Amino acid sequence: MKTLRHAGAMQRLALRWRREGRSVAFVPTMGALHRGHLSLVTRARREAEIVVVSVYVNPTQFDRTDDLRGYPRTLPADRKACAAAGVEVVFAPANLYAEDHSTWVEETELSQGRCGATRPGHFRGVTTIVLKLVQLVQPERMYMGWKDAQQLEILRRMLRDLNVPTRVIGCPIVRDADGLALSSRNRHLSPAQRAQALALPRGLLEATGKARPAAWLRRHLARQPGLRVDYVEVAQGRLAAAVWVGSTRLIDNVPLPRVQRKGRKA
Ligand code: PAF
Repeated sequence: MKTLRHAGAMQRLALRWRREGRSVAFVPTMGALHRGHLSLVTRARREAEIVVVSVYVNPTQFDRTDDLRGYPRTLPADRKACAAAGVEVVFAPANLYAEDHSTWVEETELSQGRCGATRPGHFRGVTTIVLKLVQLVQPERMYMGWKDAQQLEILRRMLRDLNVPTRVIGCPIVRDADGLALSSRNRHLSPAQRAQALALPRGLLEATGKARPAAWLRRHLARQPGLRVDYVEVAQGRLAAAVWVGSTRLIDNVPLPRVQRKGRKA
C-alpha cells in the first residue's frame, strides 16, 4: 500500500490508471477511521480493482475552530487499518488549498435545512473539497455512508449537475451494539454522555411509529437529560436529527415508511 502526500502525485497515478483502463473506487474520509469507514472500504474492495482512501481534515467545512482543532488525527492507525483492508493508496495531503484559493462549489437546493441551516458554509466546504478530491483520484465510484444523508444527497446532485462521471454509492449506517451510529466524534463523549447520546438513535427508531414523527421526536429529545436539540427534520424520505451532548454534536437519521415522508420541519 502506498501513502501519497501530494496532489500532483495522486493525480499522475490516477491518470495512469485511467489510461490502463483500471476501475477505481474512492472512499473520502477525514481520518480517525472506524468500522463505518471500513465497511465502505470493504464494499469498494469488492466492486473495483483499485481502492483509494483519502484522509484529509478539510478546514473549509468546519464552522467552529474548536471543532477543527479537536478533530482526531490518527494517520498511523488509519494507514494500518487501510493496509489490512486491502487499500492500494492512502491519499493524505497536508494541504489542498492554494494560499489564494478563490473558487467554491455550492449546491443550492438540498443544502437548505438540516445541517445546512445550523452549520453555515459547511456544505460549500464539502462540495468544494470533494470535487477537488474527485479530480485528483478520478474514481468511477465513490462510497459514502447514509449517516451523513444530506451530504450524500448533495454530493450526488453536485456530481450530476457538473457532469462528473463518478457514481456515488450509498452504504448503510454502521452502529454499535447499543444503537449509536459510529462517528469519529463519539470518542469525545464521556461514558455518561455516551449513555445520554443513546436517546438519539432510540428516539429516531421510536418516532418512525408515530403519526407526526418529527414533532414527536423534537418533544422527546428536548426532555432527555444532557441533550440539546440542534434540529429535527423530515427530508428526502428520512427523519433526521442533530443533537448536542456537551460540546459534541451528533447526527443520525432513519428512513421513514412511505406514508410519513411528507417533507416538513418539526
Ligand atoms: O464525511 C466526511 O468525512 C467529509 O465530509 C468528506 C466527505 C471526507 C469531505 O471532507
